[in-house]
Amino acid sequence: MAAEFLSDSARRAKEALATVEARPGVSKPDPILIAESVRRNFGGVVAVDVNHLEVQRGSITALIGPNGAGKTTLFNLLTGFDTPNEGKWMFDGRNLEKVVAHRTASMGMVRTFQLTKSLTKMSVIENMKLGATHQVGERWWNGLLPFRWKRQEEVIEKRATSSSSASSSTTCETNMPARCRAGSESSLRCLGRS
Ligand SMILES: Nc1ncnc2c1ncn2[C@@H]1O[C@H](COP(=O)(O)OP(=O)(O)OP(=O)(O)O)[C@@H](O)[C@H]1O
Ligand SMILES: [Mg+2]
Repeated sequence: MAAEFLSDSARRAKEALATVEARPGVSKPDPILIAESVRRNFGGVVAVDVNHLEVQRGSITALIGPNGAGKTTLFNLLTGFDTPNEGKWMFDGRNLEKVVAHRTASMGMVRTFQLTKSLTKMSVIENMKLGATHQVGERWWNGLLPFRWKRQEEVIEKRATSSSSASSSTTCETNMPARCRAGSESSLRCLGRS
């Protein structure tokens, strides 16, 4: 039933994983993310100790564990918001050790936060549009020349609108200020933006 809502890439990932053994750390046919011996201690607390982790490209993958298991800390490490005591990880074949958070994001690995972070004075659609990478208008001199970025922005807006309506179960009023939306919708919006 749920399969009909999968994107093409998610469906491909599901098919590729059909024959993969369900075992922690198992190799995947086409991993987009590989983490190896990633450890993070806070004083005497071992927050993260991941021997080997692979995430299949296009897959919808969940990381579950009790409170304090180290999920957020692992995401912080992989996305450059924190530094491990040891370990290495690759995203789409590129080593991300020592790559800072904003570079990690521009390389395509974007995260959301446990407590949602929105730019509340901007509308929902503006928040969504911010997530698109490599926007021509991000360079200040291009920003002064709308003809350089207008067309790209229209494409981004179309994508944001369709992603927004696909991810929200309510009628999504995308022009409302982001602060007016409920907490659960705020989480969905952060997901859409990333
Ligand atoms: N900055 C920090 N300084 C010290 N200890 C920390 C820090 N961040 C996390 N910890 C500790 O690391 C462990 C893992 O925390 P983390 O927040 O990653 O868990 P979590 O799985 O995300 O939990 P939750 O389900 O509650 O969100 C916990 O024992 C936590 O107290
Ligand atoms: Mg957490």
